[in-house]
Amino acid sequence: MKRVLSGIKPSGELNIGGYGGALHRFASMQEDYECYFFVPDLHAITVPQDPRRLFQRSKEIAAYYVAAGVDPAKATIFVQSHVAAHAELNWLLETQAHFGELARMTQFKDKSHGKDAVSSALFTYPVLMAADILLYRATHVPVGDDQKQHLELTRDLAERFNHRFAPVFALPEPIIPEIGSRIMGLDDPSKKMSKSNPNRNSCVLLQDDPDVVRRKLAKAVTDSEGVVRYDWERKPEVSNLIEIYAVFSGDDVAAIERRFEGVGYGQFKRELAEAVIAKLEPIQRRFRELVDSEELVGILKDGAAKAAETANDTLLKAKRALGLFTIG
Ligand code: TYM
Repeated sequence: MKRVLSGIKPSGELNIGGYGGALHRFASMQEDYECYFFVPDLHAITVPQDPRRLFQRSKEIAAYYVAAGVDPAKATIFVQSHVAAHAELNWLLETQAHFGELARMTQFKDKSHGKDAVSSALFTYPVLMAADILLYRATHVPVGDDQKQHLELTRDLAERFNHRFAPVFALPEPIIPEIGSRIMGLDDPSKKMSKSNPNRNSCVLLQDDPDVVRRKLAKAVTDSEGVVRYDWERKPEVSNLIEIYAVFSGDDVAAIERRFEGVGYGQFKRELAEAVIAKLEPIQRRFRELVDSEELVGILKDGAAKAAETANDTLLKAKRALGLFTIG
């Protein structure tokens, strides 16, 4: 059975990078895969969070899943900390993970660089991510390009465990699309569009009003050539905008180049903004209805119960394989 698991951390405000790399693909996957979409709140607390904001943001991410078309009748939607098996399998896998392989993770190096109070959980973060995936025996994991290394580690840990003990885990494949898996900052195409960038104009947020979207995209950096052409080597700024257009319009790159042939960047950016707004508006409407609703709480309760069934089954198998004294 093909099974998908993915999640978006409730840290910072969701931007169109996370939409391109992950969220916009979730709804279409639920037709072909058994899907689990979760809110990795335990991952968010590996760096300092304001507790009240974290609480609200966890609801927001779950609401965005549903608002973007994930159907709770088809997919399981839940919050990581509601399913205790994640933390438990994390510990079991930590006993199999090597210090050296974790020290090689580029995200850890980036996030810890120059900081002196780095939590040990930030270091072992990828092991928890492996636990998330392996608990559900996910075969496919839709993510952006920045998660590739974590997926490789997940496969290594699964293989190591299966080989040493018993074949408990499935080996997951990342699903990283050619277009949209690496959306860069609007102010600097050498940096990933990120929740943690303090420059508000560097990214379009999922909650931005139409006028804000128009303003931010109008300000996006371009080059002086005035030609809408996809070429990451020579034209990273424009290539990034073309990718955003492709994600939001569903058109392919060649069609976008043809459409904007002989047209300046001004018009391209205006049409790009309208394509983004057209997709975001219905999502924002549904999001507002859901975010503080009882309906959402109900979805997450059901989701946690369903997720726990699968997760607990795998956890028990992993404990038995390790030789822990299990009862029942
Ligand atoms: P997170 O919360 O940083 O990002 C969520 C998803 O969005 C993708 N993404 C991007 N894609 C394209 N361009 C961007 N600028 C961009 N920014 C973010 C990310 O690649 C990701 O797919 N560790 C994960 C959360 C997680 C997870 C998991 C994901 C925890 N456990 C298990 C999948 C499976 C993270 O921090 O994603």
